[in-house]
Amino acid sequence: MLTPKELLNRQLTQATAQLGGAATGAPDEPLVVAASNPKFGDFQCNIALTLAKQLQQKPRDLAEQILANLQVADLCEPPTIAGPGFINFTLKPSYIQAWLTQQIQDPRCGVAVVEEPLTIVVDFSSPNIAKEMHVGHLRSTIIGDCLARVFEFQGHRVLRLNHVGDWGTQFGMLIAYLQERYPGLLPPGEAIDLGDLVTFYRQAKQRFDGDEEFQQHARQLVVQLQAGDPELVKAWQFLCEVSRREFQQIYDLLEVQLTERGESFYNPFLAAVVEELKAKGLAVLDQGAWCVFLEGFVNADGSPLPLIIQKSDGGYNYATTDLAALRYRVQNDGAQRIIYVTDVGQSQHFAQVFQVAEKAGWLPPTVQCIHVPFGLVLGEDGKKFRTRSGETVRLKDLLEEAIQRADRDIRTRLASEQRQESPEFIQHLARIIGISAVKYADLSQNRLSNYSFSYDKMLALQGNTAPYLLYAYVRVQGIARKGAIDFAQFTPEFILKLPPEFTLAKHLMQFPDVVAQLGADFLPNRLGQYLFELSQKFNQFYDQCPILAAAEPERSARLGLAYLTAKVLQLGLSLLGIPVVERM
Ligand code: ARG
Repeated sequence: MLTPKELLNRQLTQATAQLGGAATGAPDEPLVVAASNPKFGDFQCNIALTLAKQLQQKPRDLAEQILANLQVADLCEPPTIAGPGFINFTLKPSYIQAWLTQQIQDPRCGVAVVEEPLTIVVDFSSPNIAKEMHVGHLRSTIIGDCLARVFEFQGHRVLRLNHVGDWGTQFGMLIAYLQERYPGLLPPGEAIDLGDLVTFYRQAKQRFDGDEEFQQHARQLVVQLQAGDPELVKAWQFLCEVSRREFQQIYDLLEVQLTERGESFYNPFLAAVVEELKAKGLAVLDQGAWCVFLEGFVNADGSPLPLIIQKSDGGYNYATTDLAALRYRVQNDGAQRIIYVTDVGQSQHFAQVFQVAEKAGWLPPTVQCIHVPFGLVLGEDGKKFRTRSGETVRLKDLLEEAIQRADRDIRTRLASEQRQESPEFIQHLARIIGISAVKYADLSQNRLSNYSFSYDKMLALQGNTAPYLLYAYVRVQGIARKGAIDFAQFTPEFILKLPPEFTLAKHLMQFPDVVAQLGADFLPNRLGQYLFELSQKFNQFYDQCPILAAAEPERSARLGLAYLTAKVLQLGLSLLGIPVVERM
């Protein structure tokens, strides 16, 4: 079923096409948006203003001609023209009723499956082996997972790829340090417990920075490793495995699925990538390194800034790997859209990689590469997010602290409500609230801005937080328990009368448009804001319209609205990677 917005768009397209000469100049989408203020109705459109200039007519006259051609009688009350030529639409109660009746039976809450599913690669999370997985990787993990969930729900084929940094010069240093700490133990058996890998990395780095000879040895090991020396390969695999286990703990806590395909995977293709760029005349030798010069990229002094694809020592780099990965994803995975979720600091890198790929012909016009950047996570003081002692915050500690704090909050609240709950209940709830709070705090911000990480804010029961949204869902479940209502068997008639009922109903109807928007602009905070407003509108409705105590037909209609609210909240939150609870 098309949403009212889609229907209006379609009818307006037809009506404007009938304006004769206008047809050619009319924009594809006649710009219907939800009304900024309920006094303008439910939707508004400024097509007449847009076309007026082109057609050299008065916008109001044009609006009248459009309305004369427009067929929306089933959908809304007669549209009105306001101000300089805006067209305002108010939905008909009968239409709202029909829509709600459909939506309540639809497990997808009105969200259509796309007609032409794409193969989409979402490249996200992607921490570096043996280095710290920091809050930036947390953002990438949460945002990337959300986008993957949305694409999956829309019916696309999605590859969730973890492009882990498992190849690079750091391994020479790490293996050299491994040899030194555990002499004779290479290849290392399961017997070695490295302890915390980040600490191990720091110690290795200290050793590396302070000793010329050690550095020499480490560099030599990189060359041997890249040449495939079996012992070194085993040591490398061992380090990757230890790291992988640590990352997995985070993914388990977050309930995020990823397929690991690290940088090393593309190693066999790097030479061919460089050869192809040379053969196509794109790569040139510049001061010993193979470079591709690009349009629009210059150094601070104005000289052209090339993308280096092979260093003078013969080594390949991050960009070469990304070129190989892009080529592989298009040619072997059949990707039609590739989404890269990293911090905004990598924007230039991706812009360069995409430009080279395009020039090389690896990026046909049917394939879209999109960098989805995000800002920084800051401490509550607005400075870089660090522990008290000034170290990088370990993600596992961060998530566990959120769970602990949620646990404390729950116990305090239960005590004040004089409720007794089992330890299992509290544990389960604390985990869901703690993790959801962290995820939602991230997703509810415009991803391009920096945000301050505050446990107190994200765990608050009031405000745009996960607990607030979860609570709205729980409230509906409470109504069902109290009234002994089985929503699954419930087919109400949506006879609406009061303004809070209409406000809530119309908000529910916007859900499919919001999901479609998120699938197009990759901004999860829009969905967050929508769900927050849904919870607020539901709470206002709940305060003003008795539900269980009402007489029929109000009682059923209101129960129906409550149930739909819960359904949309559950589905919307699941797209953000957040599960619901039945009680809290
Ligand atoms: N490992 C990189 C980092 O930690 C992120 C990789 C992003 N993906 C990519 N294809 N370059 O910054």
